[in-house]
Amino acid sequence: MQWQATHGRNHLPWQQTRDPYRVWLSEIMLQQTQVSTVLGYYQRFLDAFPDVVSLAAASQDEVLALWSGLGYYSRARNLHRCAQAVVQEWGGAFPRTAEELATLPGIGRSTAGAIASFCFSERVPILDANVRRVLTRVLAFEADLAQARNERLLWEHAQQLCPTANLTEAMPRYTQGMMDLGASICVPRNPGCLVCPLQPACRAGRAGNPENYPVKTRKLKRSSASWWLLLGVDAKGQVWLRKRPGAGIWAGLYSPPVFESYAELQRFAHAHWSAADGAWRELPPFLHVLTHKDLHLHPVLVPVDKASGAIVSEAEDACWASAGIWDGLGLPAPVRKLLDSEFRR
Ligand code: ADE
Ligand code: SF4
Repeated sequence: MQWQATHGRNHLPWQQTRDPYRVWLSEIMLQQTQVSTVLGYYQRFLDAFPDVVSLAAASQDEVLALWSGLGYYSRARNLHRCAQAVVQEWGGAFPRTAEELATLPGIGRSTAGAIASFCFSERVPILDANVRRVLTRVLAFEADLAQARNERLLWEHAQQLCPTANLTEAMPRYTQGMMDLGASICVPRNPGCLVCPLQPACRAGRAGNPENYPVKTRKLKRSSASWWLLLGVDAKGQVWLRKRPGAGIWAGLYSPPVFESYAELQRFAHAHWSAADGAWRELPPFLHVLTHKDLHLHPVLVPVDKASGAIVSEAEDACWASAGIWDGLGLPAPVRKLLDSEFRR
């Protein structure tokens, strides 16, 4: 905050007010556009629409015309819709908490945090791309932000790091400071660690590897697969389990053999085992959700007659396992649930 007061930006037009309409307008414009470009648009917009009521009353064409050149026109359409929502649902006054602000069109969690901290000094963080970079570096936060739970974790850190005293002055100062630091010093390439006020506290700065942060893998497309699980069961109620390969899904765990179709499952069972009396039974399929894949599991229960000279592979880390045995094996959670519900008595 001291650094912000002396080295940050303090003379931008939207910093001279706590009017949420003006702050909101600036934050939306600044989302994908740099300050120098925004300045002129911001002023023309306010001249045409000095308050939220006048913006709400405008036609969409008028709004889009004034936005013309700023790009990302969904921002302008949301801006207009948001103004109408503020007038119709909030009596013309912006709500005063980040949580409520985030329910409005075009206002995400970080923008809501910016408005609430700038205008109402609410103790809430922002986490735009700049601040995300600063925070992950300071904390050496290595978890992959492509995963929602890691993103949530970073938000929690951001929340905890907010000022705790003198919030009226501190929150706007802190929020602007984090933005300014990310924009001017803690930049993506060659950050200025030597002149950075956070340097004494910064783990990545100390380790000399700030450019390793933030960690965000390409977001993998979710896929889905159907797996048929062959539950070979002998007369004693033992189930045939084998160790899975060392890589891939359920790596190294014990599982009933897995097939990509019912026909493959059938082929395997007929090739390796003699059928016992008793019908094959398809158990109800169920969904198991992995990080990047939905697994539709189709268990098929197959009675096996070991006494009748069946070929039963005991090689390659496979075994006939009763409940007492599989308790001690590493099993995928859905397999353990399935076995316990089907065979434990
Ligand atoms: N980018 C987003 N919000 C900003 C602000 N308040 N000042 C400067 N740049 C910004
Ligand atoms: Fe960023 Fe370097 Fe400052 Fe850490 S010390 S916050 S990496 S500029």
